[in-house]
Amino acid sequence: MSRGSPHRRGADGGGYGPASGPSAGEIAESVLRGNWLEGRRDGVRFAYTRPSPGRYPWQWYWDSCFAAIAWRRFDPARSRLELESLLAAQRPDGFLGHTIFWDRPVSLGRLPFYNVASRGALQTETIQPPLLAWAWQIAVGDPAAEPRIGAQARWLAGSRDLEGDGLLWIVQPDESGLDASPKFDPVWGWRANARIGFPWLVHTNRRLGWNARRIRDRAGPVLCETLVNTMWSLSLQALGEASVTGALVERLWDERRGLFLDEAQPGGERPGAITWAALAPLALPDLPEEIGRRLVEEHLLNGREFLTAVAPPSVAACESSYQPGGGRGPIRRYWRGPTWVNAAWLVWLGMRRLGYVEEAGRMAQGLTAAVEREGLREYYDPRTGSGLGARDFAWSALVAELTDSK
Ligand code: GLC
Repeated sequence: MSRGSPHRRGADGGGYGPASGPSAGEIAESVLRGNWLEGRRDGVRFAYTRPSPGRYPWQWYWDSCFAAIAWRRFDPARSRLELESLLAAQRPDGFLGHTIFWDRPVSLGRLPFYNVASRGALQTETIQPPLLAWAWQIAVGDPAAEPRIGAQARWLAGSRDLEGDGLLWIVQPDESGLDASPKFDPVWGWRANARIGFPWLVHTNRRLGWNARRIRDRAGPVLCETLVNTMWSLSLQALGEASVTGALVERLWDERRGLFLDEAQPGGERPGAITWAALAPLALPDLPEEIGRRLVEEHLLNGREFLTAVAPPSVAACESSYQPGGGRGPIRRYWRGPTWVNAAWLVWLGMRRLGYVEEAGRMAQGLTAAVEREGLREYYDPRTGSGLGARDFAWSALVAELTDSK
């Protein structure tokens, strides 16, 4: 699919009017099919959904998990192929990287920003939010029956649970999937994603082998991040292992502010910017109900923070860093205001579970209308639903989850 007409709905080409164009579900399916890529590398078969063929041609770990979830509604065999393809890149020690370069190496222009040991590497040395086991449970079957998924969980626990309480620590902002979120500004400063010093962070961590313990011991920083640990708890529960939701509450819940706030080490900094990630634990079925209600009532449904015409923004509207239009200039700084469909879906799950069905329905309507008018975009303006960022963006197919809750 390309921009524009095939996916417009409504006689004027821009309205929410009578359904004359394809539905959100049809748009989702057509983008997933268009982005699908199959092939072989050194005899290993791969098959995955490119996040956006022009801008993101490789296999990204968490994008693939979301794509697999979306595929189950249209072609369930592809859900399995997508996740099998991730597992085909797994190392013998269980490690699975953030991006896998199946059919071509990372481009020279991107090399300074990509966490690869060398240009010809098959994958990055960094992780993304570990939702593979949970995605497998939703889209494929029992993850405990696939030993390679348990092996990834053991690698994560062994390499990233730095304090022995079950929670994982990340070594770079992009490991959270939330690249340039303002919550990372005080932690990584000039070395944060999309800042001048980011290539220096990549360079330093390359020298340290992206080893979290070595990085922490050389003054870090390392971060116990809310979204990563939310996905981790969902995956552990999908595997039938002990949940870490209690540990997440214990370490990161800020009772006074009614939010989850990350912790950096060394130093113990708790970055205070209000971003949607602070609400992500709503996706956890075992989140204590009173905490879930505070997240919804004090933040998600608060017009000063996350309640907008379309769906929750990635940063609360009251933050000085809030840029709902995605910002200006040649450097893309992601996750600083626009609405992302995966984020909306994760909090939508919690709203439904806690009984905020009408409010969840309004959010679903806002997103569906945006998708039917604008196509699957990487992110949307939370006030107007205008499509922003990359086109034909695969995980926005999760909109189908919000329109059909089966
Ligand atoms: C951006 C996003 C990241 C995503 C990637 C590919 O870097 O911040 O979460 O995985 O694009 O879509």
